[in-house]
This record gives sequence, structure tokens and C-alpha cells, in this order.
Amino acid sequence: MKLIRVENYKEMSSKAAQLVEQQILDNPHSVLGLATGSTPLGLYEQLIQGVSERGISYRHVQTINLDEYQGLSGDHPNSYRHFMNEKLLGHIDVSLENTHIPSGKSLPVEAECQRYEALIDKIGPPHLQMLGMGTNGHIGFNEPGTLETSLTHCVKLEASTRSSNARFFSDRDSVPTHAITMGIQSILKSEQILVLASGKKKAQAVKRFLEGHTSKDFPASFLWKHNHVTLIVDSDAYSLAAAEEE
Ligand code: GLP
Repeated sequence: MKLIRVENYKEMSSKAAQLVEQQILDNPHSVLGLATGSTPLGLYEQLIQGVSERGISYRHVQTINLDEYQGLSGDHPNSYRHFMNEKLLGHIDVSLENTHIPSGKSLPVEAECQRYEALIDKIGPPHLQMLGMGTNGHIGFNEPGTLETSLTHCVKLEASTRSSNARFFSDRDSVPTHAITMGIQSILKSEQILVLASGKKKAQAVKRFLEGHTSKDFPASFLWKHNHVTLIVDSDAYSLAAAEEE
């Protein structure tokens, strides 16, 4: 695992944008694995700027998102499809039909999960998968307890995850109870994985991740099974791990 320490959120976002843009310059037909949450927002802003300022083109790029809330259609303002279109995909020159996110409305949900996993195998796996980390160590929506062998599946969200994500909804009860997420095994299929962590609230999770013990109680720890992971961490998120070093 490669650790890149930076000062703050802005530097984390710039460093991540450099790596993503390099991937696209190296292979204009890249498949990018995308994430939601607040963490990648700065990265996405930089990628949008990269189109006009650095001439980066997503014309041949395909994207595969990690997860979607179950029960929300793509045009629901809290769906991850809506989030991605607003924050990135609608502002770069990617063809929307080349951007993939599980459908929160397709039933039966098991069939949607199988369709999505088959899609990952067909057009992917991603050359570069971006990941944030939940405070409980979740990646995508793989909550503690998820098996390393998991493929795209439906999950019941933990109370803590619903509370942290409630900030995007009118109230906590409106946060869906279930989601569809790429599994741990689906994520580990990616060629390279880029994990971003910023802020004091991620310090405990970063410290635990860097201990390097693989455990299903802390899903991000399965990333240690992959040989091409880069973690970009800012000084607040690294603060508890740094205290350990002293
Ligand atoms: C959500 C997403 C995750 C994301 C996590 C952390 O639950 N499903 O993919 O990594 O939140 O979010 P944030 O970046 O806002 O801390």
C-alpha cells in the first residue's frame, strides 16, 4: 500500500485529480470506478476544471459507481445517480450512457445485483477505483460483517451510516434502509484503488486501517489483500495514526 500524506482537503483533492487525469492520459478508454459522499467532491471539482483548463477528455471513458440507495429512482434528488450527474458527470464530456450506477428501482433486487456484477465484468473492472471510507470502515456500502467474497449485493444500512448520511436528507427517517453496493470482491477486481480520507472524523478509521489487520469487522481492511492501493490522507485524518508513531 502506498501512503501519500498531504496537508489538507484541497491538497488531497489535487493529488487525487492528478492521478485520475494521468490514468486518462495513459489510456483515454479508461474505466473509472466512482464514489459518492463528501470526500470526493473536491476531486470532482478539479476534474471538471481539468476539462477546460488542462484539455482532459472523457469522450471514451466509462464509469462504474459503487452503490445506490434502494428504492430511489435516478431522478430522486437524494439518489446517487442524481448526485453524480450534478457533481461530476453532467459537467464533463462523458457520454451519460457510458456511466453506470445500480438502479435503485429495479426489481427483483437480486436480479439487478447480478446484472450489475455482470456489467462490471463486461466493461470493467475499473482501471482505477476511487473510494472514500465510512467512519465504521465501510467501503461502498459494505458494512462491518461483509464477507471478502461478496459480489454486488443488497445491504441493510447500519444505524450509524443512516445517521451520517442524514445530512443529505430532510430527516433521518427519509434515509433509505437498504442499498445496492458492489461487494468487497467486486471492488478488489479493480486494477488500482485510490482511497481518500480527510478530516478528524476519519482519524480513527485511518488509524485502524493502517494497522493492517484484515478483519470483516472493518471492511476497508480487505484492501490490504490488493497489491495496488494508494491512500491519500490529510493531516487531520492522519492525526491518530501519527500519534501512534510517536
Ligand atoms: C457513503 C458512501 C460511501 C462513502 C461514505 C463516506 O455511505 N456509500 O461510498 O465512502 O459514505 O462518506 P463521506 O465521504 O461523506 O465521509
